[in-house]
Amino acid sequence: MSRLETLISEPELARRCDELAREIEAVYGDEPVLLLGVLKGSFVFLADLARRLGPGTTVDFVQISSYGGEKQSSGVFHLRKDHDANIEGRHVLIVEDIVDTGLTLLRLRELLQTRRPLSLRVVAMLSKPEARRHEALVDFVGFEIPNQFVVGYGLDHAERYRNLPYIALLHD
Ligand code: IMP
Ligand code: MG
Repeated sequence: MSRLETLISEPELARRCDELAREIEAVYGDEPVLLLGVLKGSFVFLADLARRLGPGTTVDFVQISSYGGEKQSSGVFHLRKDHDANIEGRHVLIVEDIVDTGLTLLRLRELLQTRRPLSLRVVAMLSKPEARRHEALVDFVGFEIPNQFVVGYGLDHAERYRNLPYIALLHD
């Protein structure tokens, strides 16, 4: 039986979302921004962030191949769903749940850059700096966490726990 241990509570997440929205607005001002969520893990964070940003905000998604049922990254990058909108000449803000090894973000940045956005930045709710193996730039980070497997607030283990309203450590 797996055991859940709260790492970041619901009010802490909400407070940090407020701050991140202000940090993001300070960078873009009134310019329209396309939030590009990475499915599926970012869906909760993106919904919370989007509702704190201005009326010029739009939303789109990409999906990248997942970990499967494992707790370790598969090390492959496969784009399963591309974005619908044309991103050329637009401010694109990639919205990630968590940056682990950095591979996903590195490859996604490389791909999107070829499509000539006006600017390309990244906001991640969580980052595991100790796990980083690829140089992946993250412009806005919610929380830095230890190199342990977490679930909740969009993050899953074998598709479970995405609906937990807080972030928890998953113990075996
Ligand atoms: P990366 O390519 O190694 O940086 O992995 C990034 C992706 O792996 C994230 O977008 C998550 O979907 C998944 N991931 C990494 N760490 C965790 C975790 O602790 N819990 C759940 N998913 C994770
Ligand atoms: Mg993800």
